[in-house]
Amino acid sequence: MAPPHTEDTLIQSQGSLVHRVEQLDLKHIARKQGKYIVFPETKYPELESFEHHDPGHKADPAKNSLYNNAEKIFDLTPHIGTEVHGLQLSQLTDQQKNDLALLVAERGVVFFRNQDITPHQGVELGRYFGRPHIHNTFGHPEGLPELHIIYFDENSSTKGYEHLSFADIWHTDVSYEVQPAGLTFLKIDTLPEVGGDTLWASGYAAYEKLSPAFQKFLEGLEAVHSGQHQIDEAVAQGRPVRRRIVESIHPVVRTHPVTGWKSLYVQPYFTRRIVGLSPKESTAILNYLYQLIATSADFQVRFKWTEDSVAVWDNRVTFHNAIFDYLGSGKRHGWRVTPQAEKPYLDPNSKSKKEALQEKKA
Ligand code: SIN
Repeated sequence: MAPPHTEDTLIQSQGSLVHRVEQLDLKHIARKQGKYIVFPETKYPELESFEHHDPGHKADPAKNSLYNNAEKIFDLTPHIGTEVHGLQLSQLTDQQKNDLALLVAERGVVFFRNQDITPHQGVELGRYFGRPHIHNTFGHPEGLPELHIIYFDENSSTKGYEHLSFADIWHTDVSYEVQPAGLTFLKIDTLPEVGGDTLWASGYAAYEKLSPAFQKFLEGLEAVHSGQHQIDEAVAQGRPVRRRIVESIHPVVRTHPVTGWKSLYVQPYFTRRIVGLSPKESTAILNYLYQLIATSADFQVRFKWTEDSVAVWDNRVTFHNAIFDYLGSGKRHGWRVTPQAEKPYLDPNSKSKKEALQEKKA
């Protein structure tokens, strides 16, 4: 079924081929009409496992398809964040997508400004990097359940946010799934006059901050991740729950399949406890790690969005946090595609980013 507000454009090419181009202008709808998401009663089957083939394995280590074609590419901080100018995500070749997967795996998050990519193109691009995740309770544009919509305006309720501690909402997307998110795209097309920045923190650098003894201790551990609070919220608001199983156990330290580097993989929003520890032990250790993520400005990057920017991050090796400082005072809208990747694992022979780079240099 075609989504609503779709302009179907017929392009006649050489008199024989007819292409149907769908342009779903969510930016226009969000600005003119306001909130547009739907909450269908559809029941989804449990997610099936799939084999994830990471395009980063096919990348050129020098990433020449990006570096030779962009106007400029520059790092925003030493540990995390790179900005690319002069490339459109909608036009990438397969080699550029592979090289992007590697760049994002290495730098954690990569930003593009003035992007023309449409929601349908976004879902197709996402499909190249994994199976686009469909959320079990969130609303979405009709016909496009693969999109996660960000929409807040002057009338959005600030209930629940007034006393929210910013430190508690650092997260990696859908970590409660057996195969959580890998490379993820977010386009923000509408912004308040001021505010609405987003922060990312590096999981590689968080792991490197720990003493070797503590690293070793954590590497033997797994943690429970749960999305139950999102189900509870949906039930409380009378919204449908389309899939019920939202709990998984993952290693506290995981290895990125392409870089081979170790990353911390716990965060306050979805991680609940460390398996095998007493509740007090688990809480003490997790709180220490959460505080490290939240307070380490030396491995965070704060992105000041401009209209139609896209952030591409690797959820396996970063944490992020949207800053709700504009609630009640402006409109912020965008859409996210969240491809799922492999089941997290720890390769005991893998290295920290620093060790691996030092070895390579030597
Ligand atoms: C997200 O948590 O994926 C959304 C981030 C943002 O709204 O900036």
